[in-house]
Amino acid sequence: MKIIITGVAGFIGANLARKLIDSNMDVLGIDNLSYGLKENIPSGVEFHNQDIRDSRIEKLFVGADVVFHLAAKNCISDCQNDPVETADINVTGTVNVFEAARKARVRKVIYAESSALYERSGLLPTPESAVQPESFYAVSKLAGMHFAEAYKRYFGMTFTALRYFGVYGPIQDYRRTIPPVMSAFIIKLLKGERPVIYGTGEKRRDFVYVDDVNDFHLLCLRDSRTDNETYNLGSGENHSVLEIYELVSRLLGVRLEPEFKPDLPGEAQITLADISKALALGWKPKTDLETGLLHAIDYIKFEMAGGRI
Ligand SMILES: NC(=O)c1ccc[n+]([C@@H]2O[C@H](COP(=O)([O-])OP(=O)(O)OC[C@H]3O[C@@H](n4cnc5c(N)ncnc54)[C@H](O)[C@@H]3O)[C@@H](O)[C@H]2O)c1
Repeated sequence: MKIIITGVAGFIGANLARKLIDSNMDVLGIDNLSYGLKENIPSGVEFHNQDIRDSRIEKLFVGADVVFHLAAKNCISDCQNDPVETADINVTGTVNVFEAARKARVRKVIYAESSALYERSGLLPTPESAVQPESFYAVSKLAGMHFAEAYKRYFGMTFTALRYFGVYGPIQDYRRTIPPVMSAFIIKLLKGERPVIYGTGEKRRDFVYVDDVNDFHLLCLRDSRTDNETYNLGSGENHSVLEIYELVSRLLGVRLEPEFKPDLPGEAQITLADISKALALGWKPKTDLETGLLHAIDYIKFEMAGGRI
């Protein structure tokens, strides 16, 4: 099977590429390296440094069976600061990928939406039906969703939409202005610096380990029940930022008083996935938080030992 991954140099894309290569599939990866790193891409991937907004990506899609469309501008605060680029990448870029997939008659497009689509819903645990976006990032993902629906309607294309909650694990991008919370805590504590908590630390997040997400990716490839469906991918449990901080601190054996800063705009206070739809397919998240965090810690330590942090 020939699989295309957009955003292959990013966190989820690079982990997925490794899994597919290990399963003996042909993987062609596209990324413009705006956020991701070439070093993240596993060997065996045919890599193309291209922008998803560029119509020349079309020729790369010829002969592809399935596309995983993961490339996006996806840091909520970056998106709040630049709605125009957010729309350009997440809407125009996404439509360009769908169009390339259509012309190449790709069998299925599996693409990333986000739990951010539920920002204003307040319904917990949140089912797939509770779409109420607020931030520019979430609105851009909603536009992608509507385009996928129109491609289904007018061209009979097959899609699976994945609403990731807080995915974590090795290769998670820690270089952003505001890194994901787990990487931020691990790095600061390993450096002996006080980690920053935005808000009171009571915000609660549903975290899911990247290998568990990959199990679902593989299921999408082989199980036609996922055709033209949307799934929440979370763990169905949530933890406060303070709980995460305590756990990381205990696992590292380092205690430092966190520094509290004002909350970030556009972020939900509580996320909790209703994962019953994904569970009904026989999938279930297997990695507990402590085990997953130990893997994330090993990765950050490896990066530090290599002088990259
Ligand atoms: N990580 C999560 O917890 C999470 C949660 C919800 C949704 N998502 C979605 O899942 C997808 C993957 O997320 P991730 O965590 O791996 O993000 P990431 O930032 O690590 O990876 C995204 C990749 O897309 C690439 N990219 C960005 N703009 C591009 C462009 N114009 N052309 C080509 N490549 C471009 C970046 O260079 C990067 O390598 C995204 O669509 C994201 O919105 C992720």
